[in-house]
Amino acid sequence: MAAVPEPAETSAPTLDGLLKDIEALQIIVSGWNEQQRNTVEALRCAIEALHREAFIRLIRTIRDEPAAAGRLREAASDEVVYAVLRHLEILKPSLDERLQQALNSVRPSLQEHGGNVELVSVEPPDTVTIRLTGACDGCPASGLTLSAGVEKAIREHCPEITEIRKASGHNAQGTTQVDFVSPFARAEDEGWTDLIGMEEIGENDIRIIEHGGHSLLFWRQDNNVKCYENACAHLGMPLDSGELEGGILTCPYHGFQYALATGECLTAPEVQLQTHAVRVVANRVQVRLS
Ligand code: FES
Repeated sequence: MAAVPEPAETSAPTLDGLLKDIEALQIIVSGWNEQQRNTVEALRCAIEALHREAFIRLIRTIRDEPAAAGRLREAASDEVVYAVLRHLEILKPSLDERLQQALNSVRPSLQEHGGNVELVSVEPPDTVTIRLTGACDGCPASGLTLSAGVEKAIREHCPEITEIRKASGHNAQGTTQVDFVSPFARAEDEGWTDLIGMEEIGENDIRIIEHGGHSLLFWRQDNNVKCYENACAHLGMPLDSGELEGGILTCPYHGFQYALATGECLTAPEVQLQTHAVRVVANRVQVRLS
């Protein structure tokens, strides 16, 4: 039998070299006509879709092994692996990234009023501290700006955040008398549906409600209510008949475990439950579907 030939020695490309190659090719393509550019773009999309599918199949195949799940996490901490998996939308943005996206989304409106906002700290799993700066700091309307704009953006981008603290500035109490219309107020109530009373969800228990074609899983601990899609991140099976203990829900099908305080999957941290935004108004739980 013929011996298997050794693979040819090739020098590994450097990250810097690859990025420069991509940049040089992009410059060349940008000079082509529209039809040629569209063809290149379609080719790029098709190749990326193929790579994405391959990565997803690879991860599905190995993630049930605890040791493999650990190695996956390790691999994803490499900056190139992380950047590629994020680009292919296999990894979701981190909490920090989503917080920055939230703040960036409201900055233009705040800056129009001479203010700004900065992220002071994140206290997992559900609390962030921000600071309003410039004209917003000390402004009697800053409480309204916070609740109607910054807070709304943070809750939309990061439904797991339930407590938003201000590092400095005036206490928001009493600001309801201020004659100020938030630039964000118009959309504040859009999309929310009143679904259930707080008392209808047992303490540290779950409750399922069908709404808008979704099966919604509610969990409550004290005044903290969370809402998730009732679908396991493994194969999408319903979670409501799973065992719940100490805020940890175990999928009845293959045992994936979820921390209901955050939606984090403890079995395969690279996935998480799909979260829907929740707010409590007059002891009623309102939901906005993601
Ligand atoms: S569907 Fe497989 S663990 Fe939930």
